[in-house]
Amino acid sequence: MRLGLLTGGGDCPGLNAVIRAVVISGSVLYGDSAVGFADGWRGLIDGTARELTVGECRDILTLGGTILGTSRTNPFAIEGGPGRVAAAIESNGIDALIAIGGEDTLGVAARLAASGTPVVGVPKTIDNDLPGTEVTFGFDTAVQTATEAIDRLRTTAESHHRVIVCEVMGRNAGWIATYAGIAGGAADILVPELAFDLDEVCQRLRRRHDGGQFSSIVVVSEGALPAAPGDLESARRAVSGGSPDAFGHARLGGIGNWLAEEIERRTGYESRVTILGHIQRGGTPTAYDRVLATRFGVEAVQAVHDGEFGSMVALQAGHIVRVPIAVALGPSRTLDLGLYHDVAGLFGG
Ligand code: F6P
Repeated sequence: MRLGLLTGGGDCPGLNAVIRAVVISGSVLYGDSAVGFADGWRGLIDGTARELTVGECRDILTLGGTILGTSRTNPFAIEGGPGRVAAAIESNGIDALIAIGGEDTLGVAARLAASGTPVVGVPKTIDNDLPGTEVTFGFDTAVQTATEAIDRLRTTAESHHRVIVCEVMGRNAGWIATYAGIAGGAADILVPELAFDLDEVCQRLRRRHDGGQFSSIVVVSEGALPAAPGDLESARRAVSGGSPDAFGHARLGGIGNWLAEEIERRTGYESRVTILGHIQRGGTPTAYDRVLATRFGVEAVQAVHDGEFGSMVALQAGHIVRVPIAVALGPSRTLDLGLYHDVAGLFGG
């Protein structure tokens, strides 16, 4: 068979591991050839494609990003988009498309599958919030990167007796904040799922100071917001806007600035902020992400050869399974609040 591959949406560590697994296992097991479309769905709109060889893919396992490039292009927001996608599939002789992406990329894949396009989905996002799979690759690497950053912030916070707010990614979900916050011993963790009371946060920081601990790390998700209406209004003003992407998502980032300023104003403790941003999405994948991405890639090839189009590979109870792509379009798989509450007793301690 001739396989078409694309990577769409925000990049994440492990994308190249999936590409490698698809190209090599397709070739070794079935004699497949592979074509890579450039920059997500944009490559199918523009007809930008190239042959992907086993030789080229052998050594990309450890490489961050995606050798195919990515974009947030939505063919359904472009006039004649779906027709152009179909034409690119036809002209490149593609028998099956493997779309690697998050809810937006997979949403396009689901719509195309519903109208008969032979497509299989592979889920990814550092945010770890896709329904249908217990984990997405990229998350583990993002947590590792954020934890290392927190470890570094801790020593400078201690030297200067400061509060340091560390803002991490996670648009709608506090998975990265919670895991990195626990691993980094944060004094407080603020997530999008639970509107926070800033006075209570300050109270917990005061408690630490009263107990002789004059430095604190507060980890905040980019999507976290305060509960009090006045705070909410001023926090929203501080969060950077930017124009929404082709799927209508606002650009987040900046809540940490507001938080650090307010903590300093309300407590008198000198405060600083570090926004980790795209550092969390870059670099080489952890061993966990390499393994998960490889397993997903191999399974996607199997799904293609089983003719199971319209399916997405997923991790459930440690096993690689297939679910309908449409499952990934349900409500975000937000943070397990049980996990959060289990560790919340440490905040302010
Ligand atoms: O891929 C998900 C994500 O990393 C979110 O956590 C973040 O809000 C967004 O992507 C940033 O996207 P961009 O790279 O387009 O600014």
